Amino acid sequence: MNRIVLENCGKINPEDIEEYIGVGGYEALGMALERKTPEDIIKTVKDSKLVGRGGAGFPTGLKWSFARASKETQKYVICNADEGEPGTFKDRLIMEGDPHKVLEGMALCGYAIGANTAYIYIRGEYQLSIQRLTKAIKDAEKLGLLGKNIFGADFDFNVKIKIGAGSYVCGEETALLNSMEGLRGEPRLKPPFPAESGFLSKPTNVNNVETFANIAPIILNGSDWFKKFGTESTPGTKVYTILGHIKRPGLIEVPMGITLREIIYDYAGGMSSGKFKMAQIGGTAGDIVSSALMDAPLEYQSLQALGHNLGSGAILIMNETVLVADFLACCMKFFVHESCGKCSVCRIGTKQMYNAFKRMEKQEAYFDELETIKELAEELKLTAFCPMGQSVASPILSALKYFGKELALGVNPDRKREPVTRENPNIVLNYS
Ligand SMILES: Cc1cc2nc3c(=O)[nH]c(=O)nc-3n(C[C@H](O)[C@H](O)[C@H](O)COP(=O)(O)O)c2cc1C
Ligand code: SF4
Repeated sequence: MNRIVLENCGKINPEDIEEYIGVGGYEALGMALERKTPEDIIKTVKDSKLVGRGGAGFPTGLKWSFARASKETQKYVICNADEGEPGTFKDRLIMEGDPHKVLEGMALCGYAIGANTAYIYIRGEYQLSIQRLTKAIKDAEKLGLLGKNIFGADFDFNVKIKIGAGSYVCGEETALLNSMEGLRGEPRLKPPFPAESGFLSKPTNVNNVETFANIAPIILNGSDWFKKFGTESTPGTKVYTILGHIKRPGLIEVPMGITLREIIYDYAGGMSSGKFKMAQIGGTAGDIVSSALMDAPLEYQSLQALGHNLGSGAILIMNETVLVADFLACCMKFFVHESCGKCSVCRIGTKQMYNAFKRMEKQEAYFDELETIKELAEELKLTAFCPMGQSVASPILSALKYFGKELALGVNPDRKREPVTRENPNIVLNYS
């Protein structure tokens, strides 16, 4: 059995709470309220070594303990269901396939940290998820599994849905909080972290949909059971969306530590056409890797040791017909569109990179363009205000590492830069 998060998907009717209860649903919550203290729950989650599945890979139990430690009486639980990265749709399918599992995980979090109010921040395009979650909340309230005095215990937990307007940066937890408060969807300075001062300045715990979907099985079966899946450093499974030049694109849940080779040849049925050239791991802000990474275990720690990041779970496989410069221009187009504009290095830098990769595609890049791009990417990594701008560097620096020679073919050594003058400023700030 490799499935934890998707174990019920396709097996039970997601719109029928009785079917979820029939497969052991809400048993973890009932058991926790009857026999476990909030500290017990946090300890189990910590012992399981579960790390957040939203991209950053932060230890979930540790995050919960920060929110628990606050003495404030009003605290919030937020489920981040924004999922704005191209190629990523795992959270949508989890919510559509098993909405109660997400709600049960959120309620367990509320009990553990001492919060009675929760929100699911979900993108407006996810109509079916919104519909199913709305029904799931109502049905759970009717049976006393959400709302007041759950399972007859002295614990209330109310979940509301907040619909986002579709902005990638609003998935970043502090921009999400701004958006929830009706402010511009711009990231906030950290610290303070949300666990200290989050929604309406109250302690707030933000977790990803897949993270919450792991909680009830962990509480029900214990941390040792969870650690039987995946690797020693990162136990559990990972839900991926696999896309591109492969025979079977779609959604998979596999143990942490599986390799790219296994994903392509065992799960995706192999290449649909051509030869493997590169993969982008973790969505548009993810690293671009060559076949050199074919046998590296995909999990947070070992990838970090190789200088890469697993990200949130989109894997895009590309064959030799894809030009690296062309692909990077597509990535930059996305970032230009999604940059919130708060800092110039991201607002202007992404546009400059987009222009440079377009020139490279046509073999018209300036003689020093590769160095300039590398410097700019490193600058973004160091100085951008939020992780979005910082992560723009990931596809670029990894592509330069593995495909630097190909990118250099786009440079024209004779194409020197014209001096920037007041009359001709667009040489640098080419906003066309
Ligand atoms: C630009 C950007 C977009 C993000 N989008 C999402 C998202 O859609 N869903 C998500 O859970 N986390 C997203 N994150 C990560 C969140 O900021 C946060 O780390 C996460 O929700 C925490 O949950 P976890 O600990 O369960 O992973 C994004 C981060 C950045 C920088
Ligand atoms: S790095 Fe980009 S997305 Fe983040 S605050 Fe700056 S402009 Fe906005």
